[in-house]
Amino acid sequence: MKVCVVGSGGREHALAVAMAASGDEVVVVPGNPGIPASMTTDPVEVEADLFVIGPEQPLVEGLADRLRARGRRVFGPGADGARLEGSKRWMKEVLADAGVPTARHRAFTEVAPALEFLRTLDGPWVVKTDGLAAGKGVLVTSDVDLAAEDVVAKLSGSAFGEAGRTVVIEEGLTGSELSVLALCDGARAVALAPAQDHKRLGDGDAGPNTGGMGAFSPVPAVGPDLVDVVLDTAVLPTLAALSARGIDYRGVLYAGVMLTAEGPRILEFNVRFGDPEAQVVLPRLACDLSELLVQAAAGHLRTEPAFADDAAVNVVCATEGYPDSPRSGDRVEGLDAATAVDGAQVYYAGVAAGPDGGLVTAGGRVLGVTGSGPSLAEARDRAYRAVACLSWPGMHHRHDIAAHIAADDPSPSASGPPISVLIPGSGASTPDPGIRIEGWHDGEEAR
Ligand code: AMP
Ligand code: GLY
Repeated sequence: MKVCVVGSGGREHALAVAMAASGDEVVVVPGNPGIPASMTTDPVEVEADLFVIGPEQPLVEGLADRLRARGRRVFGPGADGARLEGSKRWMKEVLADAGVPTARHRAFTEVAPALEFLRTLDGPWVVKTDGLAAGKGVLVTSDVDLAAEDVVAKLSGSAFGEAGRTVVIEEGLTGSELSVLALCDGARAVALAPAQDHKRLGDGDAGPNTGGMGAFSPVPAVGPDLVDVVLDTAVLPTLAALSARGIDYRGVLYAGVMLTAEGPRILEFNVRFGDPEAQVVLPRLACDLSELLVQAAAGHLRTEPAFADDAAVNVVCATEGYPDSPRSGDRVEGLDAATAVDGAQVYYAGVAAGPDGGLVTAGGRVLGVTGSGPSLAEARDRAYRAVACLSWPGMHHRHDIAAHIAADDPSPSASGPPISVLIPGSGASTPDPGIRIEGWHDGEEAR
């Protein structure tokens, strides 16, 4: 089978590696110079038996629809389903319809009622752009005045343009975060092994949020029962609510979950594999990924994914200035040595061809190194041994990915302090006009 993976980051590299392991011919469009079989071309011009679309932007823009209109088999939702990530306001509506537990929230287009609502919430406070905002659309803060300033900046259009002209304000939840990625075929869903992402830039969860500085799988505190709870109380009801709206959702539903004292709460749905979650979940897969994705794309998901009883830890290596203003053009050294480390796999993300045949940095998250091993401690050790081989001016990475878990600390990031941070990964740009007041999700009347 020939597979076309659309995208250019570490997640797409991991997809390509996993599907090549199934014996498939894989091309990655556009890919990057570190990913074999990368092709800079329009995906609609590619002949393939299966298309797998990695990032949210082309999904929100309807690439899956364009490919399906040409009779292609596609794993990835159409623009209608991708709106779940493209509009946080709409996502919250769907969650409310589906009865999925989430944070108390309301959406606004006007400053005065937004600020009034903000003051009714206990901190920490969360302010999200409705639309995609280049990874900076979510503010979580324990300073209500800062939250208020952010509301004004977003609604005025000065901070995020159209994407911010509708905001979702919600209560900040505390607990440990969990990523559950489910493969969906329109009606059925199967969960992949759970993963945990490290979103903050610095060791000890310091600094701003990022797209993800590392991840690990499995998550020892999260057994199959908890994954089933997420599937049964969040993913399947959402799929049914989409179906009731005439949306045939075939792709990943990625539930970003906060494990609160009151139980799991959905923070977000993403409409794609997580990055770097894919880089720890896919290497653990002990069955044929292409077969699973073909089944989902065809609307006939019937295989339960199987996972090896091992562990994977991914460490992201970023450039100076990431996430705000990443520097580009520095030569990447040590790739051969890193690749030679037993049990380590280097995934290429923000790289470009250098003048002398090598690679230079070309983006914030440049490389992600996944270590695999029989335990999280061993997987972690392998990842960090490979990372130690890599260098470029200003390269930085976290030193504590999965450290708490590997050291057998039962409370992962549960205590992440609610400080003021900007959070990537906000949704898209199709806000409806007018004030949209959503009721309390948990049934309270809007006040
Ligand atoms: P993303 O997954 O990129 O949409 O990022 C959203 C991130 O914002 C989550 O992973 C959390 O870290 C944070 N976040 C979103 N909503 C809340 C909330 N209600 N309470 C606390 N943190 C939140
Ligand atoms: N790692 C978070 C995301 O993919 O959105």
